[in-house]
Amino acid sequence: MSKTLVVYFSRTGNTKEVAETIHEEVGRDGTIAPIDKTGPVELYDLMFVGFPVHSHSVPFPVETFIKSLPKGKPIALFSTHGAFSHHPIAREALEYAAVLAGHCRLLGTFHCRGRLSLQAMETLAKSPEHREWAEMAPSAASHPDSHDLAEAALFARHMKARSAEKSPAGRD
Ligand SMILES: Cc1cc2nc3c(=O)[nH]c(=O)nc-3n(C[C@H](O)[C@H](O)[C@H](O)COP(=O)(O)O)c2cc1C
Repeated sequence: MSKTLVVYFSRTGNTKEVAETIHEEVGRDGTIAPIDKTGPVELYDLMFVGFPVHSHSVPFPVETFIKSLPKGKPIALFSTHGAFSHHPIAREALEYAAVLAGHCRLLGTFHCRGRLSLQAMETLAKSPEHREWAEMAPSAASHPDSHDLAEAALFARHMKARSAEKSPAGRD
């Protein structure tokens, strides 16, 4: 049976919630772990790696982790963010993560909005460089919601099916 690891980095729980939904969907052959407690990853046939968007980008521990993955490892990336889902911020951090994962076999990506803590909102209000997405942040308060989690579950199922497909010759 193929083995799946769901890895997440999460400061305030949003990305963890999405990771847990993915883990539930993956079923019995899945393991879930925070990014600093994964152990050896060679054992796994599929890895989900999730992170919150921080300052428009990928948090440093996640960058380091993705770069350290073995060549050809089948992975699926997911993120949560305060900005609107259609905003370039939401897409760009995942695109950067995909570049970092250039040596892996990237099967797909998923993202949804995630509420900001009160503390983060207060910090944002004081930082002019964050004004653009800070204006969008309050409407993320209800996320991730049941719709986001249902989509995350569907994503998990698709990624699992895709990981079972034979990879194109020369890609791994
Ligand atoms: C320090 C910090 C920086 C953030 N920067 C961004 C950002 O640039 N763009 C964005 O859309 N959301 C940003 N957010 C919002 C988080 O990405 C969002 O709330 C996320 O769901 C938090 O996930 P977590 O609960 O797993 O930590 C930031 C949050 C924090 C705390």
